[in-house]
Amino acid sequence: MKTVETKSIAASIASNATRLSEALNSHMRNSFQPDSRKTLRKFHPAEVSELTGISLSNLRTRHQDGDFPEVETDSRGRRLYSAEDIDQIREVMARTGRNGDSYRPGRRENDPLQIISIVNFKGGSSKTTSAIHLAQRYALRGYRVLAVDMDPQASLTTMFGYRPEIEFAESGTIYDALKYENPVPLSQVIRKTYFHNLDLAPAGLLLSEYETETAYALQHKVDPPFTQRLAIALDEVEANYDLVIIDCPPQLGFTTMTALLASTGLLITVVPSMLDVASMAQFLEMAGETVEALEDAAGPIDWNFLKFLIARYEPTDVPQSQMAGFLRSILLDQVLTTPMLKSTAISDAGMTQQTIYELDPSHVVKKTLVRILESVNGVADEFEKTIQTAWGRETD
Ligand SMILES: Nc1ncnc2c1ncn2[C@@H]1O[C@H](COP(=O)(O)OP(=O)(O)OP(=O)(O)O)[C@@H](O)[C@H]1O
Ligand SMILES: [Mg+2]
Repeated sequence: MKTVETKSIAASIASNATRLSEALNSHMRNSFQPDSRKTLRKFHPAEVSELTGISLSNLRTRHQDGDFPEVETDSRGRRLYSAEDIDQIREVMARTGRNGDSYRPGRRENDPLQIISIVNFKGGSSKTTSAIHLAQRYALRGYRVLAVDMDPQASLTTMFGYRPEIEFAESGTIYDALKYENPVPLSQVIRKTYFHNLDLAPAGLLLSEYETETAYALQHKVDPPFTQRLAIALDEVEANYDLVIIDCPPQLGFTTMTALLASTGLLITVVPSMLDVASMAQFLEMAGETVEALEDAAGPIDWNFLKFLIARYEPTDVPQSQMAGFLRSILLDQVLTTPMLKSTAISDAGMTQQTIYELDPSHVVKKTLVRILESVNGVADEFEKTIQTAWGRETD
């Protein structure tokens, strides 16, 4: 009797999975038009001005003078810029503008690649949302960005329009570059994305093998150890990027430790609620102990920065704002001043695997979009200063 029951439950789980998967497939097809990959929308002059720091009047004058490439116009004759156009404009400004270097925000000679892990073992603490928004914002700001999905759940990969359980079921993920037997060069798994300046090292369920394989490799002293595997993989492609943004899984296992140990800086996202903060305290304690043990074995680990981001924040929620104040009073200036606000623009857009940068502005209530753009851009701009400081540059 018992086996029959187990069998039928197992069968029902499998059939649920099939039905869900089919429904998701059709949902994705409807959201992205049949068989087409995602594409990036065009940007209005005000957005170009905000992204580049060129004033609107200067933008107009430079076009009139023929300094900038001609761009598409909409039905009302307004200019519309692709992300590539924006980069070309930046290039012209860097060569001819007054403060040319300010239009080249990325690495300069001898600047090391910045590798940033977005981490916390609390599930749903906005890691993936922060990772993709930061990656896209920095790509639009003119940095060359590699997004690395280190979570077998592959939410970040899905946000880029992939179906990991179908497209990367056998191979093609970061796991291929990290595995202990016949790893491939990272360049073989990196995908260009529809987003200019933004590449992706995808994840998939196979990545979960890395946890068990690492335990085995440690026992059998397989080299190089997990502490170096991502850093070594990244070495191959480091010249192609300014920033690497790693989305970590909600556990403190070998996969997360692999990401942390390849990183130059950490960003911990935290929703300011009692339970989340308590969980983060535990995470910090465990991470601290693990890192100390690894340092004893392998020497000091040198991060350039550790920052905390208050995520999914509702300023009108009194307990939340008290908890945010509490975090600031203890963690001081390690907490980014700008919080990432909770917004229906983010959760709604997430339903169709879009970010607030991909949304068609005409499909969202203007006030809602302005408010969340201000918040996310504010977070990204503030964190950008941390990155610039790590390169030894002055920020105001
Ligand atoms: N600022 C926000 N406003 C509204 N919804 C948000 C916000 N940030 C995240 N969310 C929503 O919360 C959910 C969890 O976010 P996300 O997937 O980014 O968390 P996570 O930390 O990556 O989760 P996991 O631990 O499972 O990897 C998602 O549905 C996302 O759309
Ligand atoms: Mg996630």
